[in-house]
Amino acid sequence: MDKKAITKGPLSTRSAFRKSLIKWFEQGGKIYPWRATDNPWKILVSEIMLQQTTVSSVIANRRFERFLEEFPDLETISKAPEDQLLRAWEGLGYYNRVRNLQRAAVAVLSDHHGAFPKDATILESLPGIGKYTAGAVSSFAFNEPAPIVDANIARVLARLFNYHSPIDSTAGIRQLWEWAESLLDRKHPRIFNSAIMELGQTYCSPKKPDCQSCPVRKFCLSTSPESLPLKKPRRKVVRVDEHAIFFEKDKSILLAQESGDRRKGFWRLPLRNEEEVAHLEPESKFTYSITHHRVTLYLYRSEVTPASAETFVPVYKLDSLPIASPIRRAIEASL
Ligand code: ADE
Repeated sequence: MDKKAITKGPLSTRSAFRKSLIKWFEQGGKIYPWRATDNPWKILVSEIMLQQTTVSSVIANRRFERFLEEFPDLETISKAPEDQLLRAWEGLGYYNRVRNLQRAAVAVLSDHHGAFPKDATILESLPGIGKYTAGAVSSFAFNEPAPIVDANIARVLARLFNYHSPIDSTAGIRQLWEWAESLLDRKHPRIFNSAIMELGQTYCSPKKPDCQSCPVRKFCLSTSPESLPLKKPRRKVVRVDEHAIFFEKDKSILLAQESGDRRKGFWRLPLRNEEEVAHLEPESKFTYSITHHRVTLYLYRSEVTPASAETFVPVYKLDSLPIASPIRRAIEASL
């Protein structure tokens, strides 16, 4: 190890680092609804929700509170039909997460007598709960000394340790978890984990870190923080065209139900290949992104012969059906 890392840096002065970080957070840490509870079900919901949606949009749209009003406990969600689950998660994306939330609730009820385990390694055995979520529930709900690494914490750690290897490589991931574990304040895990995450959401931001105001600046080894963290080269975005039919008859529209793994149960407009719509003019065009695809959706108002999985659905029912947000927007714009 180089000399600088021994004499400076957060690991050489762990207790001073923890003190500075916690002091800052106690004075100015944000109060979020999921920080005002130690109920593990509520904390699990918040963590799963915040994995694909920003804090500001979850707060602004009261998504956390609304979801918990509908599913206040394990029993309620364990009995819900899939349609209701998908509708409650609509707009949040990655719908397997809400299916997994239900499966996790069922597993806690059946395998743990309805009481969430405190231990991160046991939590990790529940459906859809990875190392981060297990550590978050264990530390935030039970104040257990479990480390967490999310994107914000990864950035903070890469800068603190001036780490110049890709943080998303196997070695990088292992290194970050080791640092998170050794820095963790084992006496105050809940507040420490919240504080290091919030540092990443505030002063240690991706593009313009505000090092002048940073409460742990004196422990940081980074020389050009804005250039960190490093990541493996990105997968290329693939452009794809989709051709969808809008066929309205007697206040109903022709829809198809998805059968693929990820979007199972969702309703969409019927698709046709390019040759089948060659004689038609698109009425409108929508673009949306899904994973590494940039999709251009062309919409054709036309009467077609319904394919086997396509059925007419009354317009008044659309509100209660699970439909991916970009498709719902396209339908609403065409009605
Ligand atoms: N993002 C994910 N989990 C969070 C939490 N517990 N507090 C603030 N932002 C978060």
